[in-house]
Amino acid sequence: MLVLGLESSCDDCSAAVVVERADGPQILSLIRRSQDHLHAPYGGVVPELAAREHLVQLRSVIQSAMAEAGVKVTELKRIAVTQGPGLIGCLLTTFSAAKAIAWYSKIPFVGVNHLLGHLNAARFAEPKLPFPALALLVSGGHTHLYLAESWVDLRLLMKTRDDAAGEAFDKAARMLNLGYPGGPAVDERAQSAKKSAPTFTPPKFRDGTPSWSFSGLKTAVKQRIENTLGLSAADNDYESVGALCKTLNETITAWLLKPIPHLVEIHGIASLVVSGGVACNSDLRAGVAKLGKKLGITVVIPEPRLCTDNGAMTAAAGAMLPASAAPWVENANADLKL
Ligand code: KG4
Ligand code: ZN
Repeated sequence: MLVLGLESSCDDCSAAVVVERADGPQILSLIRRSQDHLHAPYGGVVPELAAREHLVQLRSVIQSAMAEAGVKVTELKRIAVTQGPGLIGCLLTTFSAAKAIAWYSKIPFVGVNHLLGHLNAARFAEPKLPFPALALLVSGGHTHLYLAESWVDLRLLMKTRDDAAGEAFDKAARMLNLGYPGGPAVDERAQSAKKSAPTFTPPKFRDGTPSWSFSGLKTAVKQRIENTLGLSAADNDYESVGALCKTLNETITAWLLKPIPHLVEIHGIASLVVSGGVACNSDLRAGVAKLGKKLGITVVIPEPRLCTDNGAMTAAAGAMLPASAAPWVENANADLKL
């Protein structure tokens, strides 16, 4: 089955052609156009600019993906597109394009939940994932942990109470003048740092329920910069900035992984998937691999280009969902309770 996957929920415009076989999905083409240059001056994604840029980008992104795969539209067995959550103007661009192509070419259409897409990125590496699995989905907008009974059956176990982990990386990078996007910049500096800075105190929750909070970490980084480094030193003191980045990597990894062992035990978990943009982080990848070994469970972290937003994961998830023959009728998967 040939599937065209489209993704434009934030600032990446991406299309992929994926072939779904009995032994799992395989990428025939994956095109992604970044908008970093557009948003960098603002230090974050400007939704309206992103939506307008998707409109400019999407036609050539789709055409390139089809050409690279050597596939004609009439050969497609379905079109999968991110339905949400995401920036509404951005989502609308590829969603409308997908519906139009599906309607015109009479191809079944499927709307895909973005988080389900991030989980299904793991199908390229491990199509026979043992379930039940924990799915830790960490991006610029989400820090969610799901119990997955299958590739399309998720139950939310916990999520951040405020900011996503990616937001903490991005804002810390901004405070340290490391540029945009922040996560990769912090990670790069952390990897070249010789030593870590003092650790950050983890948040405590009055009700005792396991959850995350990253908003206080932003404030802690701000105070650390002002009190210890001094704002001007943040520009110049290469070692101190590197040490702070290393500590940020270590802190976020430790906080994210802390609830995993207990949840593995109480839910009889067989595997752990970590995906979303923050799963590109070197420290988190190493920490997850180490934890998997210790707990004796299968661990899957998609390759970095499949962790950040991309059309291939949307196609992989779309291949697992029932498609609608009539895209103008509200999609059957629209109310997946994620
Ligand atoms: O999944 P994604 O591409 O888009 C959203 O759905 O948000 O994730 C983007 C997020 C950004 O916050 C970015 O800074 C973060 O992923 N990110 C990283 C790394 N690469 C991307 N965070 C930490 N370390 C990285 N290497
Ligand atoms: Zn995402």
